[in-house]
Amino acid sequence: MKLQASETPSGKSHATRKRTPKVIPILLISTILIFTLYFPFLPKKLTLPLNITYYNKPSENTILITPRRPSNRAHGGEWAVRNPPPVAAGKVDSTTCDLFSGEWVPNPRGPYYTNTTCHTIQEHQNCMKFGRPDTGFMKWRWKPDDCELPVFDPHKFLALMRGKSLGFVGDSVARNHMQSLICLLSSVVRPLDVSKPTDENILYQYTRFNFNISIISSPYLIRTRRSDPNDITRPYHLYLDEFDQTWTGTISTFDFLIVSAGHWFSRPTYFYLNRTLVGCLYCADPNVTQMASTFSYRWAFERRSGLINGAGDFKGVAFLRTFAPSHFEGGPWDKGGDCVRTAPFRRNEKELAGYELDMYRIQLEELGIAQTVGRRTGVRFRLFDSTKPMVLRADGHPSRYGHWPAVNQTIPNDCVHWCLPGPIDSWNDMLQELVRREVGEKS
Ligand SMILES: *[C@@H]1O[C@H](CO)[C@@H](O)[C@H](O)[C@H]1NC(C)=O
Ligand SMILES: *[C@@H]1O[C@H](CO)[C@@H](O)[C@H](O)[C@H]1NC(C)=O
Ligand SMILES: *[C@@H]1O[C@H](CO)[C@@H](O)[C@H](O)[C@H]1NC(C)=O
Ligand SMILES: *[C@@H]1O[C@H](CO)[C@@H](O)[C@H](O)[C@H]1NC(C)=O
Ligand SMILES: *[C@@H]1O[C@H](CO)[C@@H](O)[C@H](O)[C@H]1NC(C)=O
Ligand SMILES: *[C@@H]1O[C@H](CO)[C@@H](O)[C@H](O)[C@H]1NC(C)=O
Repeated sequence: MKLQASETPSGKSHATRKRTPKVIPILLISTILIFTLYFPFLPKKLTLPLNITYYNKPSENTILITPRRPSNRAHGGEWAVRNPPPVAAGKVDSTTCDLFSGEWVPNPRGPYYTNTTCHTIQEHQNCMKFGRPDTGFMKWRWKPDDCELPVFDPHKFLALMRGKSLGFVGDSVARNHMQSLICLLSSVVRPLDVSKPTDENILYQYTRFNFNISIISSPYLIRTRRSDPNDITRPYHLYLDEFDQTWTGTISTFDFLIVSAGHWFSRPTYFYLNRTLVGCLYCADPNVTQMASTFSYRWAFERRSGLINGAGDFKGVAFLRTFAPSHFEGGPWDKGGDCVRTAPFRRNEKELAGYELDMYRIQLEELGIAQTVGRRTGVRFRLFDSTKPMVLRADGHPSRYGHWPAVNQTIPNDCVHWCLPGPIDSWNDMLQELVRREVGEKS
């Protein structure tokens, strides 16, 4: 690390909003994960070093110039010397190779950053900090069947993105993905956070590269209302046929959007159509029709496609990043379920099933509809399939290494988010290739 040129007045302090976690009355939610943005099920007497904010804004805004690849030394580097040179970038010559059918193959060169070279790792995903003992889970790369997927190259990516802006829309898994991208870029440059301190959504600027990254929190993609504005554990009201204008209002400024949603749809919610209550999920009200979570999930994507086409001013590329499955084994999340594997599944050892398969199918169906409409309106909808690769990565979650062990408290294991570094870094290998295909550059 050679030079740190400060781009902002140092010591810009962010108004990090703290929210007190509440004990959630565990209603009828059986299998799934409230595991999202706020870890709302954490016990009240919280003595853990957790920052219960949606975003953990980085405290440094500096440009950092280092050699192309972060030093391997931080990871006890002898494997870097012992092992063969990187897999040749290979031929990804066409736009036809299916990036998402493939397998995880060993990649002894990984990971490409550590928690000392990257400062934007969210506490809950800083698995090495909290004592995760194994490192093998960081040493795999995704290998499509019919081509090579080049490893993320920050210089190449920044060149592809020059003059462009990228927006992430979704929940904390979208944030997890964005933070992985920022970590991968951090061997070359760190962004400026140019968002207002009070703004929950963040705009990062890479001024030297004229490239912006934004993240917009919209876990449902559609308009929501909280039962209690100060208590996110209370049921949400979902206005299924209305846009969430926190993001639809800003999409026209983006060249690339990565839209995702998933884990929030299994929370207690009330459903409205045309402002009329039509049903609910896990509500205790006998007069309200109980509906499946897939009901609201489909609406989220219908609206998404409807709105981008309807808005008409978005002319970029919208990637629908499909649902990344969780991996609780031995019980549901709130009954001791855990994810303790240390290596990926081979293909066909693990298949998507049940609820998650339903969600994936809905996304593919709605994407197909969006693409048909988009051909007419000029919006390029693309598949970004994180489902097929990630169903195999039960080894990539924080489990109990997203915090320090707690005395006399049972904290559910996190088998939803992904350790950084970790398999979610491969999403940026995919992103780089997906963007390259859109921009039409040679690999
Ligand atoms: C929480 O985040 C703030 C701002 O990023 C930081 O100053 C503080 O030390 C963090 N607290 C813990 C317990 O990690
Ligand atoms: C990084 O991880 C190491 C363990 O690999 C841990 O000792 C250290 O505290 C972590 N540092 C930060 C800044 O998270
Ligand atoms: C990045 O964001 C800044 C601040 O909003 C804006 O002035 C600039 O035009 C944006 N650049 C791109 C490439 O979108
Ligand atoms: C929506 O509700 C309003 C007022 O209740 C009603 O006038 C209108 O016809 C409804 N629209 C649809 C499409 O049902
Ligand atoms: C449910 O509907 C019945 C009949 O319409 C009504 O008498 C009752 O008060 C309703 N209960 C609730 C909780 O709204
Ligand atoms: C943990 O629980 C045990 C038994 O209930 C109690 O004796 C002990 O004081 C508790 N420790 C803390 C740190 O609360």
